Amino acid sequence: MKLTVVGTGYVGLVSGACLAEMGNDVVCLDVDAQKIAILQGGGIPIHEPGLDQVVVRNVAAGRLSFTTDVERAVAHGVLQFIAVGTPPDEDGSADLQYVLAAARNIGRHMGEYKVIVDKSTVPVGTADKVRAAVAEALAERGQAIDFSVVSNPEFLKEGAAVDDFMRPDRIVIGAEDERAIRLMRDLYAPFQRNHDKLVVMDLRSAELTKYAANAMLATRISFMNELALLAERVGADIEQVRLGIGSDPRIGFSFLYSGCGYGGSCFPKDVKALIRTAEESGRELRVLRAVEDANEAQKRVLIDKVVQRFGADLSGRRFALWGLAFKPNTDDMREAPSRVVIDALLGRGASVRAYDPIAMREARRTLGEHPRLGFADSAGDALQEADALVIVTEWKEFRSPDFARIRAALKQPVIFDGRNMFNPAAVEAQGIEYHAIGRLGAKG
Ligand SMILES: NC(=O)c1ccc[n+]([C@@H]2O[C@H](COP(=O)([O-])OP(=O)(O)OC[C@H]3O[C@@H](n4cnc5c(N)ncnc54)[C@H](O)[C@@H]3O)[C@@H](O)[C@H]2O)c1
Repeated sequence: MKLTVVGTGYVGLVSGACLAEMGNDVVCLDVDAQKIAILQGGGIPIHEPGLDQVVVRNVAAGRLSFTTDVERAVAHGVLQFIAVGTPPDEDGSADLQYVLAAARNIGRHMGEYKVIVDKSTVPVGTADKVRAAVAEALAERGQAIDFSVVSNPEFLKEGAAVDDFMRPDRIVIGAEDERAIRLMRDLYAPFQRNHDKLVVMDLRSAELTKYAANAMLATRISFMNELALLAERVGADIEQVRLGIGSDPRIGFSFLYSGCGYGGSCFPKDVKALIRTAEESGRELRVLRAVEDANEAQKRVLIDKVVQRFGADLSGRRFALWGLAFKPNTDDMREAPSRVVIDALLGRGASVRAYDPIAMREARRTLGEHPRLGFADSAGDALQEADALVIVTEWKEFRSPDFARIRAALKQPVIFDGRNMFNPAAVEAQGIEYHAIGRLGAKG
């Protein structure tokens, strides 16, 4: 099939490349000329495991190309995927300006039937707005060309995006006409040879499904984070509790880790947007409000522990910081808890020397210059001259560190672990003071 993907970010580039991998002929469009130039030059503007091989292979096969030429892109695909950003507006609602701009462009240039597929995460009712934007652009041209609008929310996880796209748990399709549903079924047939994964529903339910999924996952995290703080108070170990409840099949083990808060480009903004949707429709989502409040507080838990240990005035202190990305296997720094921790440490006069296996370039770009913020070449290098180590992202390479080396390098052998990576007793046995989140045997 001929496909166009509008927006070549984490979702657009992965979707475009994986759809080309299945034999489709894909054109990826972006307004960011720099991004397109990198891709046309054989580079990949983001870090996503395995993505480079898929892109290179499909570009070489002539099935995948990149452009800033709107007219060419719209003319190409019978299916037009919209995968542009939907950042939070000032009031927390999803800002739809990029989605609607993409829709208008399609209306301005289409010359035959198109299926316009919303892949961006968009609030309930957006399909109607997309339909109106396309219809208005067509009317301005005096054209009456048939088109369909479909909602096809994306559930891939950064860091495992290619795998997730190639082997989806489910493919949600919100659509109201048979012609569009048939095309979507044909498109996704190669992704579900094992069993039918397509869940076809009405448009509004599909739009709400994406928010419901992220809100549920965020809820599990905030729930465990609050329980971890309670565990600290009452002398219990959240890790034991996690094992104890996760083994219940009704609960399961996923997304039960406590830590220093969720971040990233999706959970924070999607939770806010769903709360806003509820407000606008006159219904309050009380549970979700609490989820958001708990997460805001949780992002400050690490810094509270540092202050409790070293005092409120941290001037003259230096902290090693391991992990900048909002989670492992990505370079994404959007809403990363590391940003809150770094801001708070710098704000209290401390110096920070940070290390991340992948996100250093992105961190330099997003955090900007600060005279007391430096970046180390390795995890070991970050420790030099530091008073203590703060761990914010659970990268694999931090899982089994040389504790003797950490103890020797730090001025004071203290670890603040925002991801509960180690066994408290084992770390303490190495002569290191260990502060974790809700762990028995660690310092509070
Ligand atoms: N990142 C994720 O893990 C993830 C997962 C599922 C869903 N989503 C959703 O998918 C959407 C995209 O997210 P992302 O992380 O890929 O965003 P992103 O910021 O990485 O990419 C968006 C791209 O769209 C481009 N763009 C903006 N306006 C455009 C226009 N009019 N025409 C062409 N290109 C345009 C931008 O230049 C940018 O390159 C969001 O709604 C997000 O919530 C993201």
